[in-house]
Amino acid sequence: MTPSPSTMTPPVAAPEPVDVSGLVVGILGGTGPQGRGLGVRLAAAGQRVLLGSRDAERSYATAEDVAARASTVAAGGVEVSVRGGSNSDVAESADLVIVAVPFGGHAATLAGLAAPLTGKIVVDCVVPMAFDKQGAYALPVPEGSVALQAAALLPGSSVVGAFHHLSAVLLEDLAHDLEGDVLVVGDDRQATDAVQALAARLPGMRGIYAGRLRSAGQVEALTVNLVSINRRYKVHAGVRITDV
Ligand SMILES: NC(=O)c1ccc[n+]([C@@H]2O[C@H](COP(=O)([O-])OP(=O)(O)OC[C@H]3O[C@@H](n4cnc5c(N)ncnc54)[C@H](OP(=O)(O)O)[C@@H]3O)[C@@H](O)[C@H]2O)c1
Repeated sequence: MTPSPSTMTPPVAAPEPVDVSGLVVGILGGTGPQGRGLGVRLAAAGQRVLLGSRDAERSYATAEDVAARASTVAAGGVEVSVRGGSNSDVAESADLVIVAVPFGGHAATLAGLAAPLTGKIVVDCVVPMAFDKQGAYALPVPEGSVALQAAALLPGSSVVGAFHHLSAVLLEDLAHDLEGDVLVVGDDRQATDAVQALAARLPGMRGIYAGRLRSAGQVEALTVNLVSINRRYKVHAGVRITDV
């Protein structure tokens, strides 16, 4: 028997796509490979990007170079905008801020930026990792993970963990098409939705919600396994979630 319309289960509404194209994305530590790589790909997709540095002077040349490279691959009609500045200028001016400094400078960098980052989404891609004779290993973080450390230091921000598994080498190699998933962890649904949408601005990538911020530790640590895979197979491995 065909159920009458009134007894049918209503279809599950697909989540509204979030439009993040108008957000200015700041990157703390934007002069390093990961910051430059995310910057060049996002700028090529039309996102306005601010690259931060401890030394604003250093950021200007990087921003110019990143803008020039993004322009070589941006589709017709896309306006490429990349500017440099100090980390604090970037934190102040951006709508959403990605943290791409080394773990060793993570806490000190964020501790000084709590005020300008208040009310903003802060996306942490920092991996607490070191190397010894056996290869890469995960470092313990007193707060449980780098993302939880960020949340403790930035009580007024919505902290999200993402972009840990995207290789800077591939991000910077504009001849290489990206593929894979960005695992996104966080406690604020609007913030994780926005970061998933930002990940999807990178052609070939998807943003996949992967749990609450308390689950950031294993997402960060998975990078250690990817580094081991990279070394064994001479690749730049990423992550792909099946059946989603
Ligand atoms: N490289 C990758 O493939 C990759 C992939 C996924 C995640 N990540 C994560 O992304 C972050 C950045 O990686 P990266 O390879 O770009 O690192 P990096 O080159 O070592 O550092 C990035 C930038 O951070 C700034 N910096 C250096 N030491 C600092 C300190 N003590 N305090 C504050 N800022 C400092 C430097 O910029 P200024 O001197 O201009 O300030 C540097 O250019 C890391 O936490 C890493 O775990 C990297």
